Amino acid sequence: MLNEWLLAFARWLDGFSWSTQLHESFYMYAWIESTHVLTLMVFLGMLFIIDLRMLGFAFTGVPASTIAERLDLPMKIGMTIMVLTGFVLFFAIPVRSTQSIWFRMKVILMIGAIVNALIFRRKMLAAKGSAWDRDAKMPGDLRVGAGLSLGLWSAIVITGRTIAYDWYDCFQKLPYFMYWAAGCVDEMAALDRQGG
Ligand code: HEM
Repeated sequence: MLNEWLLAFARWLDGFSWSTQLHESFYMYAWIESTHVLTLMVFLGMLFIIDLRMLGFAFTGVPASTIAERLDLPMKIGMTIMVLTGFVLFFAIPVRSTQSIWFRMKVILMIGAIVNALIFRRKMLAAKGSAWDRDAKMPGDLRVGAGLSLGLWSAIVITGRTIAYDWYDCFQKLPYFMYWAAGCVDEMAALDRQGG
């Protein structure tokens, strides 16, 4: 049911002439994708420094809350640009993105990373003035949050990069489970008709 609904939504977006024009544009798509990639340095560059500080691997001489406060705004600006350009990239190729196993994994990882960030952020902002704010390593729960953040966002970058490869696209000959996981509704229906 969810696959059918997602595909119907993607095909509805695909019906907009803007979507096709963007996808077939000579420069615009490349500029938006380049912005999506280049903004990684701003967003993840700042976030990874905060995570590495929490883990005691970088800037251990600076209070953790100072690092978090100073890098917060550029990190948020970077994330906003990445999310906006991401939605435009999705709008340009809605059907293929929706039926991309990599894009689906990326969305699930992003949900996990955002939940982790919300939990982590509340604890981190409470760090200010705490006894351990100047410690080289933060308390265990903050280090777990920082480690999860490093892992989840790295996986998001990898799955973002692999979206471009068609190894598991619906036109490929895939096991039934992979068609289901990628949302290849028509291919599943064809196999069902064959009794496969
Ligand atoms: C904010 C966190 C995000 C990060 C760190 C991220 C990271 C990436 C990376 C590294 C790529 C590969 C670019 C390349 O090398 O070609 C990529 C591609 C892509 N991203 Fe994101 N992304 C983010 C958010 C989003 C969002 C919110 C969406 C849409 C809802 C999105 C949609 C896409 C699409 C469709 C591509 C494939 C572009 C292509 O290959 O033509 N991204 N992303």
